[in-house]
Amino acid sequence: MRVLHVCSEIYPLLKTGGLADVAGALPPALVRAGCDARLLVPGFPAMMNGVANLHLIAELPPRFGASALRLLAGTLADSGLPAYVIDAPGLYDRPGNPYYGPDNHDYSDNHRRFGLLGWMAAELALGRDPSWNADIIHGHDWHAGLAPAYLKAAEMRNGRKVAGSVFTVHNLAYQGVFPSHVFGELELPWEFFNMYGVEFYGNLSFLKAGLFYSDKITTVSPTYAREIQEPEQGCGLDGLLRGRAHDLRGILNGVDLDVWNPAADPDIASHYDRESLEGKRACKRALQQEAGLAVQENAPLFGVVSRLTDQKGLNLVQAGLRGILSRGGQLVLLGSGDPALEAAFREAAAAHPSSVSVHIGYDEKKSHRIIAGSDVILVPSRFEPCGLTQLYGLRYGTLPLVRRVGGLADSVVDCTAENMAQGKATGFVFDRFENEAFVAAVHRACALYARRDEWLRIQQCAMAQQFSWDLAAGQMQELYRQVAPR
Ligand code: ADP
Ligand code: GLC
Repeated sequence: MRVLHVCSEIYPLLKTGGLADVAGALPPALVRAGCDARLLVPGFPAMMNGVANLHLIAELPPRFGASALRLLAGTLADSGLPAYVIDAPGLYDRPGNPYYGPDNHDYSDNHRRFGLLGWMAAELALGRDPSWNADIIHGHDWHAGLAPAYLKAAEMRNGRKVAGSVFTVHNLAYQGVFPSHVFGELELPWEFFNMYGVEFYGNLSFLKAGLFYSDKITTVSPTYAREIQEPEQGCGLDGLLRGRAHDLRGILNGVDLDVWNPAADPDIASHYDRESLEGKRACKRALQQEAGLAVQENAPLFGVVSRLTDQKGLNLVQAGLRGILSRGGQLVLLGSGDPALEAAFREAAAAHPSSVSVHIGYDEKKSHRIIAGSDVILVPSRFEPCGLTQLYGLRYGTLPLVRRVGGLADSVVDCTAENMAQGKATGFVFDRFENEAFVAAVHRACALYARRDEWLRIQQCAMAQQFSWDLAAGQMQELYRQVAPR
């Protein structure tokens, strides 16, 4: 089975969030399972410089506003995975964030930049590379949302199905919505601009296109798959998703064990595993030193590694900080985003230098040191399609404290007396998105932290959890078989 994954980020070349981790790990897992999986990405500078052995597949006439347009192919150095890159300097040769410019505003030609991505995906099902063509186009998030629409248009032209399509929603809140007048620039049949098509309340929605035209839809956890069928988390698309419920599957993300493994992680102070957690103590000491915190072995150390956006619920951490400090706890935070939150956390660090450390920015290596060195990783999200940092926390014996929502609910088992007695508990889970509920969970964590034997047993249970990409890849393959053209 030849499967083309279409996405805009890929770890380790270009990452703004968990999507990149998934794009870096799922296709190689599919290859291990016997799929011929490849990637298609836009030619951002990080891709042009990072994909190895790039060579020309096809030179194309100008379109989508790109005067020079070439399809290149190469391989990813880490995984050896084949990757196609769209070389269109006019659209993609811009440094920094792939979606917006230095002024923090989305690029005004994003509809063409990502329309071209979807269009090229369909071309790779139609034979644009004479040596390989896709049986399945698997798009990720709104950036790839038009791929199934171009496939549908090709199917209508050719009178036969060209390729099967799977579309994965990593976050329903990012939709790629554009004013209707840009539709004419996208080379789609006019009749697609319709309520039963790409039209969304008078605008054009890339995400809706993906949801409407794909053969199968997946999202990144079973709970989120249910939540997005309800108005509260449906972002206006719950009706469509309910209508497609029989084609929608929640498949939990996995952990890339080549990247996140405390027994071999090159970025942490000392290695450790489930049998011997001695090294984790060294990681905590090193983190406290690096972060300028008081080096106190008995102070429960709470870590945050996160985008600072409304989704992540970090206002609860800000408001609940006193609850952490009053129990002798410490906080180390790495993140960037909302300027108001950045400022609030900076102020907190200035006010409590020996117990609060805040690093505003993006730092892959530091994220590993925080996950390894903290006792608890905080993920109190308002909504969370899957969430990866709690999975990394489990793997590193850093107990997650999470809200019971989306993938957090599917991956962390609360330390209730019953769950602990059954040896199932792996972290702390609270329900209501309220300060009191968050602080109560913090206090439960602090109380348990003082009972070191029990804490150790829970750490070991957390570290034994399997969040395997091989499992997810098997479930994906099952879907591919259902939608591949005969
Ligand atoms: P989301 O994709 O919604 O941001 P996830 O938990 O799925 O949330 O994935 C976030 C990914 O980004 C994780 O790999 C996490 O370690 C990483 N990350 C988030 N913020 C930072 C940061 N400031 N520095 C380094 N890594 C970060
Ligand atoms: C999104 C979601 C996050 C998920 C990630 C990877 O960014 O916000 O919950 O883990 O995609 O699927």
